[in-house]
Amino acid sequence: MAEFLAWVLYLATLGLGGSIFVSAAFLPIQDRGCSQSLDHALAAARRLHSYYDKDRGMYSENYYQWTDSNALEDVQNIMLLSGSDAYTETSETSYLARAALDPGTDWSSWLGKYNDDTQWHVLSLWRMSDYKRRRGADPRPYLAAAERMYDIISAHWDDECGGGLWWTTEHAYKNAITNEQFLLLSAAGYLRNHNQTYLGNAKTVWQWLRHSGMRNHRGLFNDGLNFTSCHNNGQTTWTYNQGLVASGLGALSAATGDKTLLDEAEITLDATIAHLTTNGILRETCDKDTNEGKNCDGDQQIFKGLWTKHLMYYLEFANEPHRVQKYSQFLSAQSAAIHHHATNITSGDIGSVWYTPNQAGSIFSYKTVTSGLAAHIAAAKYGAC
Ligand SMILES: *[C@@H]1O[C@H](CO)[C@@H](O)[C@H](O)[C@H]1NC(C)=O
Ligand SMILES: *[C@@H]1O[C@H](CO)[C@@H](O)[C@H](O)[C@H]1NC(C)=O
Ligand SMILES: *[C@@H]1O[C@H](CO)[C@@H](O)[C@H](O)[C@H]1NC(C)=O
Repeated sequence: MAEFLAWVLYLATLGLGGSIFVSAAFLPIQDRGCSQSLDHALAAARRLHSYYDKDRGMYSENYYQWTDSNALEDVQNIMLLSGSDAYTETSETSYLARAALDPGTDWSSWLGKYNDDTQWHVLSLWRMSDYKRRRGADPRPYLAAAERMYDIISAHWDDECGGGLWWTTEHAYKNAITNEQFLLLSAAGYLRNHNQTYLGNAKTVWQWLRHSGMRNHRGLFNDGLNFTSCHNNGQTTWTYNQGLVASGLGALSAATGDKTLLDEAEITLDATIAHLTTNGILRETCDKDTNEGKNCDGDQQIFKGLWTKHLMYYLEFANEPHRVQKYSQFLSAQSAAIHHHATNITSGDIGSVWYTPNQAGSIFSYKTVTSGLAAHIAAAKYGAC
């Protein structure tokens, strides 16, 4: 209690009282949660770090990617959950942290054309700020960078098809992921900074999303809109689209007190479990246990982990034990399946295929390790073991 009060006072001195909600949920697990999944997560984090290039501050081989920002976010999460400081360097010398800590960074030239990629960077910067604050360091450079990015992407909203953010700066496609992220950034950003502009944006983007037609009769979000008709384009219902809308609605519910938003989120979460699984385990449509030469691409390899991570964030925002209870078996089952079906015990690598034993179809990359790490973390926090 005394420690908690000291921490509140410390936040007050930084003028960051609004951050308590999000951060308090990331206290170390200690005796609660699932220790077996936490062990798996710690092993996955060690393996992920073996891919990390200290000089470039990246996991990816060529140039920084949105998947790197997700890996960095997961690494902050494991440090926050376990109390470990093993990967502190990622919050200081990763490509993203370096840019945030450099006051001279020109974000409009640093960022690429993809508004969804920029929003992954924001989520990662927020977690770096949480980690730094928890360790008594200054979170403000990360938060300032995130605010700047938020302003840059917000400028890409217009009335074409009744509203919505454009996927890229080229303004040729409006899709689900970019707008689901904008819902999350706006609502969770409001919980952090109490800025009414963020809350207004969150309400506006949800009204637009729910009337956009992108959620189909099964309760799943398709990829985006057909620009001739402004109707659902019927493209793939990727798992991550079903997770991001839940964390966004959870945050908006926490911001407004409107619990019906949680029921809206669960329509899509439950549809994922009903329709995007095999053997009760998440399966991307591109996941194949045998090598048929048409596997998931570099983006798609990480989607399932994003679903689990954003279910975890949803449960945090919802903060209701019966909702945790509803999903805890499912989260534990994902963690167990990853351990039994997807993990190479010799190397520690985690592959892309979770739903069945691999028969040469599973892909192994830092992205698939990241995906597994996110699922183990979610199970460590909310699993049923
Ligand atoms: C609130 O957020 C908007 C949009 O990012 C920004 O323009 C404005 O300056 C912020 N207001 C305050 C008081 O920080
Ligand atoms: C988009 O909608 C138009 C009008 O309904 C239709 O003719 C066209 O085939 C659709 N395009 C795609 C790529 O589905
Ligand atoms: C597991 O990893 C080891 C060490 O990298 C490798 O030699 C082996 O081929 C891998 N096993 C499978 C089934 O991929």
